[in-house]
Amino acid sequence: SGGNDAGGDEAPAGDDYGLIEAGTLTVCSDIPYAPFEFEDPSTETGYSGFDIDLLSAVAEKLDLKLAVQDVGFDALQSGTTLAADQCDIGASAMTITEEREANLDFSDPYYDSLQSLLVRTDSGIKSIDDLDGVTVGVQQGTTGEAYANENADGAEIITFPSDGELWPALQAGNIDAILQDQPVNIEHEKADSAYKIVEEYDTDESYGWAFAKGERDALIEAINTALQELRDDGTYQTIYDSYFAA
Ligand code: ARG
Repeated sequence: SGGNDAGGDEAPAGDDYGLIEAGTLTVCSDIPYAPFEFEDPSTETGYSGFDIDLLSAVAEKLDLKLAVQDVGFDALQSGTTLAADQCDIGASAMTITEEREANLDFSDPYYDSLQSLLVRTDSGIKSIDDLDGVTVGVQQGTTGEAYANENADGAEIITFPSDGELWPALQAGNIDAILQDQPVNIEHEKADSAYKIVEEYDTDESYGWAFAKGERDALIEAINTALQELRDDGTYQTIYDSYFAA
């Protein structure tokens, strides 16, 4: 570490990757989405989280600095933001889906997730079958939104631009439930004991980092190699445990 590159690495940092700013890996993310991405003034980028920390380690392997921009998730997952070259990479707890692969390239998967239903502890809602006539909040453009649309029969589904509006809406009583990624709902459950996850759904989702379609092959390959090295040397596990240790 400390810039003491082991021999054999390709030289000029990032020159082959077509980076929008030389020497910097510019990341687009939708924040807040703890434990994956959240504000943290104590760090160089101003953000922390599983995505950010893991990508910082990747960037270090590639001899690049990391810069993070907070952007809207919907345009990120649809490919618009990355196609416009606003960032080199989208790191936003984004599930790799066939639909998204039409407009984006993805790194190798780096995290497996579930969906889940979060409600007020005293709400009486016990499962997805209890949502008839109930308001369910989801984040726009997410797999949670798709899951709710397909499975929450009779519910009124209300979309929010980010978890930064979704979670306060539940706490304010403006919605009755949140359907979204389980690790994020776990954060909310931990933060406020008036809320609990009543059901989890194994939707077989894996997160990947996203890139403008067809434009970043060299960068993707370098990132996948770095990710594998971080798995092999234990760094991935250390970062994983810092957020998900039981
Ligand atoms: N994993 C879900 C999806 O891909 C939700 C991701 C939302 N991410 C975020 N940073 N807000 O649709």
